Amino acid sequence: MPYGRITGWATNLPDRILTNDDLAQMVDTSDEWITTRTGVKTRHIDGKVTEMSTSAALDAMAMAGVSPDQIDLLLLATTSPDQQIPASASVIQHSLGLTCGAFDLNAACSGFVYGLVTAMQFIQGGMERILVIGSDSLSSITNWEDRGTCILFGDGAGAFVVENSGEQPSLLGWDLMSDGEAADLLYCEHGDKIVMDGQAVFRKAVLAMEAAALTAMDKANVVSDEIKLVVPHQANIRIIEAALKRLDIPMEKAAVVLSSTGNTSAASIPLAFVDAVNNDRVEPGDLVLLVGFGAGMTSAAAVVRWDPPKT
Ligand code: COA
Repeated sequence: MPYGRITGWATNLPDRILTNDDLAQMVDTSDEWITTRTGVKTRHIDGKVTEMSTSAALDAMAMAGVSPDQIDLLLLATTSPDQQIPASASVIQHSLGLTCGAFDLNAACSGFVYGLVTAMQFIQGGMERILVIGSDSLSSITNWEDRGTCILFGDGAGAFVVENSGEQPSLLGWDLMSDGEAADLLYCEHGDKIVMDGQAVFRKAVLAMEAAALTAMDKANVVSDEIKLVVPHQANIRIIEAALKRLDIPMEKAAVVLSSTGNTSAASIPLAFVDAVNNDRVEPGDLVLLVGFGAGMTSAAAVVRWDPPKT
């Protein structure tokens, strides 16, 4: 059985930073309110999905020591592609000089976990190397006059190289779910801006994260005590706290970057994951739980054994 494992990773954030004080000049809010209710202090905006993704992918490929002709598939998780047609994946594929298939995957903020799980299946199906990118430019579809949403969102990208080089499985268990009945709680019409029922999303998010994480851990045959690092979707610190409490996982195990990124949708889990890895929070063999939720309402979780290439 071929097994995929992560061999390269990198992120990218656009230069422009928007602070809570900047937002207080735009809508009736305050740094104190945003910080207390969400945990967000600053976010990066004005990013383009194709540019952020290309930059992150180049660094991830360099780290993995993989050349463009060696990538078999490019999978871009995004909900805010630069254009409706073509898929941003195709534009990124050309920028990177790849000679392979490329497609966008829209599972909103659960997108990166959907993408990683999908990539692992393609490796099991015979592919050698897959580039998985999570990237969003939520600032391009944010209503900057709506204080109920504009305080939350930001832009970013994270890229991972997944290779058929593992001697043991690194994806131990996973869960992908969608609750389409709740689609009207968080949506964006073509050419329009994000509309959200924040309180309803909050409640559903906590339960969906708990359910997805429990299913993935059950499939992996592990209990929460065995998880070394949790990488939750970076939507709101209070959602993360509530979900982890229900899972009986201490907050010290959580990777959290949202204070400086906001909610970057499909980029949020890769941004937090790479930050944790770069800060030596995981060692080879450690179990990592990725768990996300988003518009749809989608949810997704994966238990991954951290198995980086030996240096
Ligand atoms: N600044 C100041 N006051 C604000 C505000 C802002 N930016 N936004 C809302 N308020 C006000 C409301 O008008 C309300 O006032 P009222 O009590 O006079 O009616 C009060 O603050 C409380 O609003 P409420 O909506 O209950 O706040 P909340 O604690 O639920 O926080 C969110 C709002 C949006 C931060 C929170 O619901 C949330 O994070 N939801 C999940 C959203 C999410 O994760 N979306 C992405 C999913 S991938």
